[in-house]
Amino acid sequence: MNDRFLRACAGEKVSPVPVWLMRQAGRYLPAYQAVRNQTDFLTLCKTPELAAEVTIQPVDILGVDAAILFSDILIPLEPMGIKLTFLEGAGPVLIPPVRTMEDLNRLRTISPKDDVPFVLETIKILRQELKDKVPLIGFAGAPFTLLTYMVEGGTTRTFLYTKRMLFEAPDMFAKLMDLLTEVTISYLKAQADAGAQAVQLFDTWGGILSRRDYLAAVKPYVSRILSELKESGIPRIYFVLDGGHLLEELKDLDAEVIGLDWRMDIKDALKRLGKEKVVQGNLDPFSLFLPEERLKERVYQILEQGREARAHIFNLGHGIMPAAPPEKAKLLVDLVHQLS
Ligand code: CP3
Repeated sequence: MNDRFLRACAGEKVSPVPVWLMRQAGRYLPAYQAVRNQTDFLTLCKTPELAAEVTIQPVDILGVDAAILFSDILIPLEPMGIKLTFLEGAGPVLIPPVRTMEDLNRLRTISPKDDVPFVLETIKILRQELKDKVPLIGFAGAPFTLLTYMVEGGTTRTFLYTKRMLFEAPDMFAKLMDLLTEVTISYLKAQADAGAQAVQLFDTWGGILSRRDYLAAVKPYVSRILSELKESGIPRIYFVLDGGHLLEELKDLDAEVIGLDWRMDIKDALKRLGKEKVVQGNLDPFSLFLPEERLKERVYQILEQGREARAHIFNLGHGIMPAAPPEKAKLLVDLVHQLS
């Protein structure tokens, strides 16, 4: 098996540098479209054979060094008592939005085996099918990111209800964070038990808060999840989008790997993050629209900077765009391998 990714997670400088792409299974791939045209997104997530098939597509097509479970961070919110729909082109809709104690008291915790058996089944199928290929990454949304979707009822620009809850009703905010933390711990432990070989915690919206508010209202919950997961014995990756101002807070988190978004230079990040962490990232996803030579320059620069880290896992600095040319994604993976 190609274990470059796992060796890098363990702190080994690996050559060639391992690479995978956030959202690597998705609409930019014609092979994904072919499966997706037969069914809606949620049904795809809940049908283990199909979810496993699209998980493996980027491994075969691009030659990435890790597979990431095909699912969505919002999946565990459904059994908590939220009706989840994905509107074509409009993103997720969550009903009812959670904005009062009454709303919150209606939510329940989940038992992954009973409530999301399809996720665990997908992982089991994948471990069999990937045996001689690459490791499998499981994932979950971090509690604050999940909270924003629950409270706003979908994607938002202003985070109006989220920030109002944090400032006007801190006890309610804390209670919801506690519940989401408990759900996320059992969800990720179940993924590890089913065979996930690493986990990534996605904190897509953690960066909207100041360092002070992140420290008080987000970090304790992320810490708890990461520490609880230690006993599973698999590497833990924590990714915050737009988290440049939070790097000093990420330094002492109990995670082997910190995912960096595309806004920061790895060399600057390392000065503030210290030398203990493995770093993952961080090419601007729009770089896939550059001509080949310009793309190559940027890949080279990131690899150079990554050499200063304890170990480096190459990735995009956020998810791949649905409009990205698949042949450029393949070229990117090849460039990372060739240049390192
Ligand atoms: O990385 C992978 O390939 C694994 C699969 C994966 C998906 N979503 C599939 C998906 C992962 C890891 C996610 C995480 C996720 N989902 C995040 C965190 C990462 C990030 O991008 O910041 C977030 C915030 C979500 C919530 C979510 N899911 C949104 C906002 C949307 C709609 C956006 C859009 O582009 O339509 C989704 C839908 C979604 N999740 C799709 C895929 C492949 C598109 C669904 C489709 O096929 O129509």
